[in-house]
Amino acid sequence: MRNTFRWGILGTGKIARQFAEGLKILPETTLAAVGSRTAEQASAFGSQLNIPIRHSSYEALVNDPNVDIVYVATPHSCHRENTLLALSAGKSVLCEKPFTIDARDAEEVIAFARAQKLFLMEAMWTRCFPLMSRVREMLQASEIGDVRMLTADFGFRAEYGEEERLFDLSVGGGALLDVGIYPVSLASMIFGTPTRIASLANLGKTGVDEEAAMILAHEQGQIAVLSTAIRLDTAQEAIIIGTKGRIRVHAPWWRPAAFTISREGVADQIQEFPFDGNGYQFEAAEVMNCLRSGELESRVMPLDETLSIMKTLDAIRAQWGLQYPKGV
Ligand SMILES: NC(=O)c1ccc[n+]([C@@H]2O[C@H](COP(=O)([O-])OP(=O)(O)OC[C@H]3O[C@@H](n4cnc5c(N)ncnc54)[C@H](OP(=O)(O)O)[C@@H]3O)[C@@H](O)[C@H]2O)c1
Repeated sequence: MRNTFRWGILGTGKIARQFAEGLKILPETTLAAVGSRTAEQASAFGSQLNIPIRHSSYEALVNDPNVDIVYVATPHSCHRENTLLALSAGKSVLCEKPFTIDARDAEEVIAFARAQKLFLMEAMWTRCFPLMSRVREMLQASEIGDVRMLTADFGFRAEYGEEERLFDLSVGGGALLDVGIYPVSLASMIFGTPTRIASLANLGKTGVDEEAAMILAHEQGQIAVLSTAIRLDTAQEAIIIGTKGRIRVHAPWWRPAAFTISREGVADQIQEFPFDGNGYQFEAAEVMNCLRSGELESRVMPLDETLSIMKTLDAIRAQWGLQYPKGV
């Protein structure tokens, strides 16, 4: 069985740095190479993070025989092109969330990976934490009864700048694709694909959604009440509510380390799930576990579900009349 995997990081921005730090605590991992659009950036990033091979193009990175898995860490609007590039070179790919800018692109990328029989996963890191695995077990075992509701939010106060990625419509800026996707993805993990959606957003000066509220209803009538923002700090809690109790995942629920379970007639219990490092190691470990067992998709973040989430995001922003410049 294969033990060590060699990673290549595509892009040198904020999340690329955090992911590179996260990889360092996994013994079975070699951070082999980085690729940037410029030699200067590749070299600076490589020396800061101790990455031996530094490529001055994404093409050179994906074609490097020293790389097994490519981690795509570019802005949302580049994910389709960069993931297809890496898959075309025969690499396994972990692509940042949102998987693509819309469902049509997601469908194309997923079909390509499946046709090439290559591993592909959306980097929805929250799902890969030990706490989330425990939550899935508890729901499976009906520990809080029949789960009927979820409330979850992810809003944070970003530095405002019309040129900033988050406020730039042309690269898919706005709250929904950046952080709103987290509660949407959590609702999907718990209830599956929604059957009805009601939502409202405030679009800011640059045209992006700056705050939004979404209600998703599901087949058995379960309801998710979700909110997101990029100019407000929200509570960042997730509460899963069942007929026999509730689980409150403490803030920040999207990097989960503790929850409180409340059940009738029983004192509230706090369960803690401390972890080393910054938490990005769990999604990387999931990729490598799949590859070791010959899986081309993750059961924790399946590609059909990634596509369903992209469709939900498309449907939500259609209600706001929010289109990205490519016209979707
Ligand atoms: N999982 C998480 O916790 C998390 C957190 C933050 C962000 N993200 C996701 O990660 C992705 C990147 O976010 P980020 O905050 O790291 O962005 P960022 O700091 O702006 O970095 C993006 C990098 O992509 C490359 N790039 C390629 N084409 C670009 C273009 N047209 N404009 C700007 N940069 C371009 C650049 O690297 P080179 O110049 O080296 O080519 C740049 O450094 C987003 O999709 C975001 O949703 C995930």
